[in-house]
Amino acid sequence: MERVKVAEYAAMFWKGGDLIWDDYLHHRQFALTAESESILRWFSLWRELSSIGEPGQLHRAIADRLLDEKVLIREGSAEHYEETRLLNEWGAWGAGTRYHHFASRTDESVTYLDPASDHVAFADKAKIEPPPVPVKTFPQRPITVTVPDIRDLSHWSRPGLVDALFARRSVRRYSTAPLPLDILGTLVDIAAGPIDVIENEETGSVVRKTSPSAGARSPLELYAHVNRVHGLQPAVYHYASARGGLERIRPPARPATLRRAVGDQPWLAQAPVLLIYTAVLERSRWRFESRRAYRDILLEAGHVSQTVLLTATAMGLGSVTATALCDAVIEQILGVDPISEPVLAVTALGYPG
Ligand SMILES: Cc1cc2nc3c(=O)[nH]c(=O)nc-3n(C[C@H](O)[C@H](O)[C@H](O)COP(=O)(O)O)c2cc1C
Repeated sequence: MERVKVAEYAAMFWKGGDLIWDDYLHHRQFALTAESESILRWFSLWRELSSIGEPGQLHRAIADRLLDEKVLIREGSAEHYEETRLLNEWGAWGAGTRYHHFASRTDESVTYLDPASDHVAFADKAKIEPPPVPVKTFPQRPITVTVPDIRDLSHWSRPGLVDALFARRSVRRYSTAPLPLDILGTLVDIAAGPIDVIENEETGSVVRKTSPSAGARSPLELYAHVNRVHGLQPAVYHYASARGGLERIRPPARPATLRRAVGDQPWLAQAPVLLIYTAVLERSRWRFESRRAYRDILLEAGHVSQTVLLTATAMGLGSVTATALCDAVIEQILGVDPISEPVLAVTALGYPG
């Protein structure tokens, strides 16, 4: 008794006359033949493998091939287990949200241009296709209000924020000086630590932080790949917000691995600290069935990373948030499961060099 069915970790679409099977979970795409398509329909629900024919017969041979390619999966197999986890973790957010997320997850096949080649490529492109104007305006409309000088802070109760806002710039050159331990600790605590906790017997504890979070679910986690911090062994640390400290969880990545992880951007790989943001999907999924909740998670990475950048600026540190990354390598460095805790972004930290 061997039951098989079509895997649910893929999407299909037509392209150039071919029906494409896009296995977004394993980043594999191929065209399906008409025979394969009819066999997939047959196995749209669990059926005995033998129901398609005996070994050696044509349809059975195609089904065996589709099993080898993980298009069909066997009940109880590793692929079945993986599919079950995927469907559970992404729940009501559905196939469209899963597809969008995993289709944009980067694996080792992704390459990025180095800054010099990137500049040349875009300068060439701009000659053929000028870039769009970077601002929107309604030129037929008069300016109703001319904004006042926003640097007049005399009436502000907390003007220091504005100073940090205008001083923040992406920094891509760091000195070799290590970061003081208390600076790193204070920074992660401000960015991701609890301000207070509201206990609710019915819906559980709600942790409030410096950044807003949809439904106060706080799905984000913060990790630090430490290269150079006074008094801290180079390693991967996790910020345990409930325990108020950094947990050493893994050895540091080899330099070449870290460089691949950050899309060959040496200023990220060589910075004293690389903060890494992930999201524990379960926290948001428990509260929200709406697919928009996935977009909220991405927004929250923006909130928390901006808090890190502004805090770093206020501390006199340089920082840059980056997303031209290789997700698959970062997942390995952290030891996180991409199905349940995807990587969102990183922020490099150090004294400007
Ligand atoms: C979502 C996002 C992704 C980014 N990715 C990268 C990156 O991979 N590498 C990098 O060096 N900078 C990255 N940056 C920084 C931008 O290049 C930078 O913010 C922009 O050039 C404007 O400069 P400023 O930050 O000094 O205002 C990213 C910024 C954002 C918001």
